Amino acid sequence: MASKLCPMLLRTAIRAAPELLERNSGLSLPPRCEGHRNTPDNNPELPFKFTAQNEAIIAEILKRYPPQYKKAAVMPLLDLGQRQHGFCSISVMNEVARVLEMPPMRVYEVASFYTMYNRTPVGKYHVQVCTTTPCQLGGCGSDIIVKTIKEELGVSHGGETTPDGLFTFVEVECLGACVNAPMVQINDDYYEDLTPETTKQLLQALKASASGGGNTALKVPAPGPLSGRQTCENSAGPTNLMSEPWGTETTRSDL
Ligand code: FES
Repeated sequence: MASKLCPMLLRTAIRAAPELLERNSGLSLPPRCEGHRNTPDNNPELPFKFTAQNEAIIAEILKRYPPQYKKAAVMPLLDLGQRQHGFCSISVMNEVARVLEMPPMRVYEVASFYTMYNRTPVGKYHVQVCTTTPCQLGGCGSDIIVKTIKEELGVSHGGETTPDGLFTFVEVECLGACVNAPMVQINDDYYEDLTPETTKQLLQALKASASGGGNTALKVPAPGPLSGRQTCENSAGPTNLMSEPWGTETTRSDL
């Protein structure tokens, strides 16, 4: 009896460990990868076909690869399917597998590995906050940005969507804009050098623009740093490489 009970208890403890850690440490763990479950809006019975315009784009993409390696186009095709359908449903993945003549499981593996593929529907604005170390430490820090967004949207950063379907909020790893930390990606745009105030203004402007732009005082800012920087230059102005570069008269006394 004990020999049967021990493995069972061990399995239960292992499954419960992440929840316990999350509850007791205050840390938030990334959402665990779960397999596909059929739902009314995501099941293989729902037809999906690329539009004629996207078929033409696929033909262009496929020209980049030798015909025997066309499955190498799986990532751009999944991206195209996601842009057309709104998310990478099972029907989108199956269609990509059909077009590229590859086993559907190989497509599922790619789509479930990379977090940029959304396998469930997301809101009109997909708010992805980077919480990796440079963003946690840079500027005001990503913790306060996460808190601000939670308060402004009323949803948590585990992929929750607001009841009006406007925003989906998720925490992600480094998005490669560490020098302008903290930052957030909203759909295809990066907003950087965030503060709680600029974050709130950004979300309020997006809400206003989604509701027809009734509040003209709230204009969605251009993507990039919201601090006044152009890119990633020093906000205090240049501090080095300020003097005239040396010419050959200094470096080549033999000339
Ligand atoms: S750590 Fe946030 S963008 Fe790199």
